Amino acid sequence: MKIIKCENYQEMSEKALEVIQELLKDVEKPVLGLATGSTPEGLYQEMIKANEKGEMDFSDICSVNLDEYVGIDPENEQSYHYYMKDHLFDHVNIKEENYNIPKADGDDLDKAVEEYNQLLDEIGRRNVQILGIGNNGHIAFNEPDKTLSIGTRIVQLTDDTIEANSRFFDSPEEVPKKAISMGIGDILNADHIVLLANGKGKQKAIHQLIHTEELDPMFPASFLKVHPSVFIIADKEALA
Ligand code: GLP
Repeated sequence: MKIIKCENYQEMSEKALEVIQELLKDVEKPVLGLATGSTPEGLYQEMIKANEKGEMDFSDICSVNLDEYVGIDPENEQSYHYYMKDHLFDHVNIKEENYNIPKADGDDLDKAVEEYNQLLDEIGRRNVQILGIGNNGHIAFNEPDKTLSIGTRIVQLTDDTIEANSRFFDSPEEVPKKAISMGIGDILNADHIVLLANGKGKQKAIHQLIHTEELDPMFPASFLKVHPSVFIIADKEALA
């Protein structure tokens, strides 16, 4: 694991873009794995600026998102569809047919899961997977559990995560209890993984991730330890 310590959130976001651009520099048609949450918002801002300056072209970029809440309309502000359009897609020259997010608002969720698994098979290995980390060590919506799934499926969110994500909703009761999420195998199916973390709230999870010597499904991020190219780009608070 390569650990890059940054002074603050802004530096973390700028550094993340620099690392991603370097990793993609010889790739003709990059495939990016994208994450949501507060952590990558600054990185997406930097991507938008780079796109405006002509330093990052999205016209050949294809993207796949990690997850989506079950039962939320894509037009709803709390959906990850809306988040991605608002924070990135509407502001760069990515083609609509080239970005992908699980469709979790229909009646047939099993079909939506099957379709996303098929899509990931067709797209193949991502060049770079961007990740955040939950306070409890979850990655995407792979929550601590006795076993973890390899592929995409429907997951139940833990109370911890519902509480943490309730800041985006009017109350914890409004946070969906389920999501469609890539599995650990999907996440690891990338040439490089760039995990971002900032702030005190992530200290414990980052400490555990750096120091763990075990693959522990109760700490889902531990599975990143088997990947040969993981960058942890974090501010000094998260790394303290
Ligand atoms: C969410 C997402 C994750 C994200 C994590 C941390 O529940 N499913 O992909 O990395 O929690 O979010 P944040 O960056 O807001 O702390």
